[in-house]
Amino acid sequence: MTDSLANILRSCWNELGRGAVDRRHGFHVPVIASLGLDGAPQARAVVLRRVIAEAGEIHCHTDLRSGKVAEISANPRVAWHFYDEGRKLQLRIAAMAEVVADGPRADDAWTRSAVTSRRCYLAPRAPGEPCDAPSPNLPEAVRDRRPTEEETQPGRANFALVVTRATAIDWLYLASEGHQRARFALDINGAWQGGWIEP
Ligand SMILES: Cc1cc2nc3c(=O)[nH]c(=O)nc-3n(C[C@H](O)[C@H](O)[C@H](O)COP(=O)(O)O)c2cc1C
Repeated sequence: MTDSLANILRSCWNELGRGAVDRRHGFHVPVIASLGLDGAPQARAVVLRRVIAEAGEIHCHTDLRSGKVAEISANPRVAWHFYDEGRKLQLRIAAMAEVVADGPRADDAWTRSAVTSRRCYLAPRAPGEPCDAPSPNLPEAVRDRRPTEEETQPGRANFALVVTRATAIDWLYLASEGHQRARFALDINGAWQGGWIEP
């Protein structure tokens, strides 16, 4: 890989890492797509929670009862979409996903989560379940306020960390003088290879 491609790959992981920690970064709320159980693609926005560049990992959190968990369990291939308007940068990332509900990694992700984020996991009914009227799907007691840490604990049973490992990255940079596009993929030795492609 040329130096310029290696720099681009480094910058991809750098921006992804920043997207996980900066709520105002364009990469903070990407889209992750999985294969629906009926074979149709399913895409949805999630919050980018953690990026571990050395391992090629991109993490999000979800409700264990959500549709995406069943989909990933049936087929771990996922696609991420990131777009940062200010940086004029799109990343399309192919990855293999794993739902981690138990163990130290999931515990750690839960512990690091703010109580306001944990509150979603107190939902009494599964996301996507039909209901008679518009419903926040939250217990009455915590609907209008920040729960205490103790109050969020029952949510742990519904919480899952989704660990995805990138296998390919499509980088597209928009510029008035001409767009640029490159594709990176992991080779069989686990090393990233890259090349230019037409935008
Ligand atoms: C801005 C935004 C952020 C969201 N963040 C998350 C998230 O971090 N995790 C999550 O599971 N769903 C999140 N959602 C909701 C999902 O887009 C989706 O509606 C939900 O997870 C159910 O999807 P599923 O039935 O395909 O699993 C978010 C939605 C929006 C609009």
